[in-house]
Amino acid sequence: MTLKIKSIHKNFGGIKALDKCSLEIKKGKITAIIGPNGSGKTTLFNVISNIIKKDKGKTYFDGKDIARLEDFQISRLGISRTFQEVRLFRNLMIKDHLEIALSDSDEKLMQNLFKKKKYDVKKIKGILNLVGLNKSLDTFATDLSYGQRKLLDLAVAIAKPHTLLLLDEPVAGVNPMLRKDIKKILRELNKRGETILLIEHDMNFVMDLAEQIFVMDYGRIIAEGKPKAIQNNPKVLEAYLGD
Ligand SMILES: Nc1ncnc2c1ncn2[C@@H]1O[C@H](COP(=O)(O)OP(=O)(O)O)[C@@H](O)[C@H]1O
Ligand SMILES: [Mg+2]
Repeated sequence: MTLKIKSIHKNFGGIKALDKCSLEIKKGKITAIIGPNGSGKTTLFNVISNIIKKDKGKTYFDGKDIARLEDFQISRLGISRTFQEVRLFRNLMIKDHLEIALSDSDEKLMQNLFKKKKYDVKKIKGILNLVGLNKSLDTFATDLSYGQRKLLDLAVAIAKPHTLLLLDEPVAGVNPMLRKDIKKILRELNKRGETILLIEHDMNFVMDLAEQIFVMDYGRIIAEGKPKAIQNNPKVLEAYLGD
């Protein structure tokens, strides 16, 4: 797995959401993108997964230029992501969400919703166990708390066949206890060989989790390095103080 982003530009009206943004991430590592609100982090994920089209620049996944691929093709290449706002089906059960994710085909989605499913209970339970979601498989998404929905969303991303996990603010709005749990989960995933690129607004969360940190401000990468160096970088402090 390799992901390389070169000189991406994206304007929304007059706003430079991404301004000559470049980064490269390493296989098997946890990499974090941090930065003030509105600095372009989510837009970068949207460009990588081609949910929005960039104006300029290149995105390479495993050496392949993925600019012309549709979002479902990119997901099939092995990029699995979560969204800042959790996206679940209210009226589907936990087991449905995971079964759909495991079946890995958007065309099959509708089929999967309506045909009689054969749940891979063992696999589903394994993933739920990994994320620490201890609820009955028959629980509807709508009956989960915010934190539990965050965990189910993470479970769905993990369940999809992938080589790269993109997580957009996995602990946003989550209480301190669950934050710690999610940190542990991500560490465990990394130990199992996962490559994770995560966005986080909260600097403290990523400091002892990520090996490499990119800092964004006004659509640009203003700093890159190991947590310690980032913490002591005056440019980074300035960006956060100005927030
Ligand atoms: N679809 C969109 N249409 C217009 N402006 C957008 C859109 N998405 C993001 N923006 C703007 O681009 C900038 C970067 O936003 P975003 O990538 O969401 O930042 P972050 O995730 O770092 O908080 C913000 O000024 C935001 O308002
Ligand atoms: Mg965002």
